[in-house]
Amino acid sequence: MGWDEWIRTIEIEPSIYAADFARLGEQVEVLLRAEVRVFHFDVGDGHFIPPVTMGPIVLQAISPLVHQHGAFVDCHLMVESPERHIPQLRGAGGDSVTVHYEVCPDLPSTVAVAREQDLQVGLAFNPETSVADAAEAAIAAKVDFVLCMSIHPGYSGQDFMPEALDRVRELRGLLPESMHLQVDGGVGPDNIRELHEAGADLLVAGAAIFGREDLPRAYRRLVQALA
Ligand code: DX5
Ligand code: ZN
Repeated sequence: MGWDEWIRTIEIEPSIYAADFARLGEQVEVLLRAEVRVFHFDVGDGHFIPPVTMGPIVLQAISPLVHQHGAFVDCHLMVESPERHIPQLRGAGGDSVTVHYEVCPDLPSTVAVAREQDLQVGLAFNPETSVADAAEAAIAAKVDFVLCMSIHPGYSGQDFMPEALDRVRELRGLLPESMHLQVDGGVGPDNIRELHEAGADLLVAGAAIFGREDLPRAYRRLVQALA
């Protein structure tokens, strides 16, 4: 079972990084009740991105609840040498791992580590990276989806970089139809529809959901923006 079964034509993924960590379980539960299917979980190592974010200990605290509801956790690895972290993330209940093009000189072997763990795999790339180079590597390594960053990775709550829209369009044109396309960074009610029309079917949203008072309402607002 993988992304093709998880996705109901399109998924909005709440990004846990933007949650209130003093109330994490409660916030995840409320979103599961609102029928969130996939959560996005950001792992940062303080090297590839400046901050250390969260890791397997936090993941293992929430993954049983997520799985009980038939939902999944997509782990975005903003780390150097991601292959070192993949088995622990699997052990903690991760369902999918996304590694960055910029730090995977041998992508097929990184992907093989994830496949050995029976994980789905994505390839992410930064705003400075050539879309064509990332697409070529993704196709060669047969990943399940490609993540086009629409901010410089590191923090939630940054403004969407408008040039990302054309990059998503370009990427969609290069990838086979079967490969999913994810966008992460500054996604909200004002750009989500355009991003979907440009070809994205996995839309990560941090501040646009967790930055609001009523989380289910914020999630539904994004769903409605796509309707
Ligand atoms: C930051 C992370 C994102 C972040 C998105 O680098 O990869 O997933 O949480 O947050 P927003 O939607 O607030 O930009
Ligand atoms: Zn992310």
